[in-house]
Amino acid sequence: MLEVTDLTAGYNGLAVVRGVTVTVGRGEVVALLGPNGAGKTTTLKAVAGLLKPLGGTISVDGAATAGRPAHVLARRGVALVPEDRAIFADLTTRENLRVAASGKAKDREAEVLDLLPELRKCLNRKAGLLSGGEQQMLAVGRALVGRPKLLVVDEMSLGLAPVVVQRLLPVLRDVAARGTGVLVVEQHVHLALEVVDRAYVLTHGRLVMEGTAERLRSDEGLLAASYFGDQRAAERLVASSGGSAESPEAAPLEPRGPLP
Ligand SMILES: Nc1ncnc2c1ncn2[C@@H]1O[C@H](COP(=O)(O)OP(=O)(O)OP(=O)(O)O)[C@@H](O)[C@H]1O
Ligand SMILES: [Mg+2]
Repeated sequence: MLEVTDLTAGYNGLAVVRGVTVTVGRGEVVALLGPNGAGKTTTLKAVAGLLKPLGGTISVDGAATAGRPAHVLARRGVALVPEDRAIFADLTTRENLRVAASGKAKDREAEVLDLLPELRKCLNRKAGLLSGGEQQMLAVGRALVGRPKLLVVDEMSLGLAPVVVQRLLPVLRDVAARGTGVLVVEQHVHLALEVVDRAYVLTHGRLVMEGTAERLRSDEGLLAASYFGDQRAAERLVASSGGSAESPEAAPLEPRGPLP
């Protein structure tokens, strides 16, 4: 559904993300992980058309999209839930959903409430008065009324308690089960790896690791080392387990400290 190849993106002509290659299949949930400032939001913005890439190619459902503006990409089925959630605080939940549904309100609203039943009790409340978790559900719901081919969610659980995250992340699986590809940035690495199919780790604007969630869960030492951009620690871990730094896949690794 999404193919990003050798993406370079940044601001004022300066690259902060380099050589990033990411794919998301139809019905697949993929996480983009990495520490603060790694370039996760920058990558998502390029995918959603909010930032013109400096290089590389992006395609959605087979059509080249790099450099197309966000409103064009929205029509082509790319929906972004931004970090700040971007809901209308003074409108009710229902009004927020209807604005996004533009005309096809009834069916779409029912679909969204099916996926996010907690929103039913919020329909007539102003979005600004909802809890953080409810607001995030609404933000995801708003993105879903357009029946996107690709759903892109930045910082799914920013400021939310783990118990709320545990409720929200599986919604992405339900969305994917309807054929949508999902790309999510998630700070709760362990919770994300329970839900997603695959993940990429980005540090300092470059991909340092990728794999199935199962593999990343089992290679926690290498994941932790790459996540924190500690290349030497990663190499030590690989060396101490008899592998080579070039082919960490082969190395059985000891778990290290807990990830965030
Ligand atoms: N509008 C901007 N203008 C200039 N530099 C920016 C801009 N937005 C982000 N950057 C820089 O680009 C780099 C990557 O930022 P980005 O927001 O993509 O990181 P991130 O991985 O999403 O981090 P976080 O986890 O904190 O959200 C950072 O060094 C940041 O300072
Ligand atoms: Mg970010």
